[in-house]
Amino acid sequence: MSRSAVLVGIGSFLPPRVVSNADLVARLDTTDEWIWARTGIAQRYYADPGMATSDLAVGAGAAALKSAGESTVDTVVVATTTPDRPCPGTAPLVASRLGLTGAAAFDVNAVCTGFLYGLATGAGLIAGGSADRVLVIGAETFSSILDPADRTTSAIFGDGAGAVVLRAGTADEPGAIGRCDLGSDGEGYDMITVRAGGSRSRLAATSPEPGDHYFTMAGREVFWRAVQRMSDSCRAVLEQAKMTTEDVDWLVGHQANQRILNRLADNLGIPRERCVSNIAAVGNTAAASIPLALDHVCAAGLLRPGHRVLLTAFGGGLTWGSTVLTWPALARG
Ligand code: UT7
Repeated sequence: MSRSAVLVGIGSFLPPRVVSNADLVARLDTTDEWIWARTGIAQRYYADPGMATSDLAVGAGAAALKSAGESTVDTVVVATTTPDRPCPGTAPLVASRLGLTGAAAFDVNAVCTGFLYGLATGAGLIAGGSADRVLVIGAETFSSILDPADRTTSAIFGDGAGAVVLRAGTADEPGAIGRCDLGSDGEGYDMITVRAGGSRSRLAATSPEPGDHYFTMAGREVFWRAVQRMSDSCRAVLEQAKMTTEDVDWLVGHQANQRILNRLADNLGIPRERCVSNIAAVGNTAAASIPLALDHVCAAGLLRPGHRVLLTAFGGGLTWGSTVLTWPALARG
């Protein structure tokens, strides 16, 4: 049987401050009814100034290592849109704070698809023999880039981190990471973006247009693309695995909006009750969304060994990705 990456540990971490819909209503022109009806979100978590993405990533990474019973890995991948600094990557800092100095460590940025890109990268390093154990973390401090005056993005996004440990095994083991379907469409580059601060709009040379250093999203346009791309990507990965939606016990989609998750489930013909959702409690945590949802549903005892899980995400870039795996027996950190 061929060498493959196998998922052997999971963990997550949320910052302490809960921001309810009522907290947003107190400072923005919005209502609890609108947010709940249009997104399915009741609350989200914010890291207060002083707490950064690496702090959340270390919390999730430590929990995943404990769950795997591992004290060391040889590679750390951090998927994030909100690194501690533009340079260097956040992963080397996270590795060193976890006692993993010397490990290969780098960031992946595919916005809300980041965790699946990171998972595919880590699994590929293992399958190719360059690594034996990889820690893949999705971590975001999205509140640090939100425009406090933008009621739409403020209603959706929150902070958090989730992580998994992969180790070398074989493709027939539970937890084996098979083919990942990944894609992008840069024509939608402007639809989910922070305009200023990179090499195109240089902070040092020009003063950015007001608001250009904040995150923006063309929500309505993104909505339909998210549904379509995740549906197509799920079908592609299932076909490659010679599976149908009937074989899927749990659909774990990127927690962007409950209405997107509902449409995705309906499109695929998967009953909505088999579509994992923790969006009411945590909102949209971008690259952290999938491992956070997996950890929460695992903790709730719903996701059990032997269940077949279809993972799918869509995000800025535009990017998308999916994979399917058989859930392994895991201790939780
Ligand atoms: O995570 C990566 C990918 N991201 C996504 O997949 C997110 C995709 N998009 C969405 O989830 C939804 O498009 C949003 C939640 C962002 C917006 O929901 P929508 O139902 O598409 O609303 P809309 O943008 O079409 O706006 C409808 C109305 C507008 O008012 P008018 O122009 O009809 O008078 C908005 O100004 O709702 C208004 N609105 C709000 N009203 C109260 C927008 N945000 C709010 C708000 N409270 N927070």
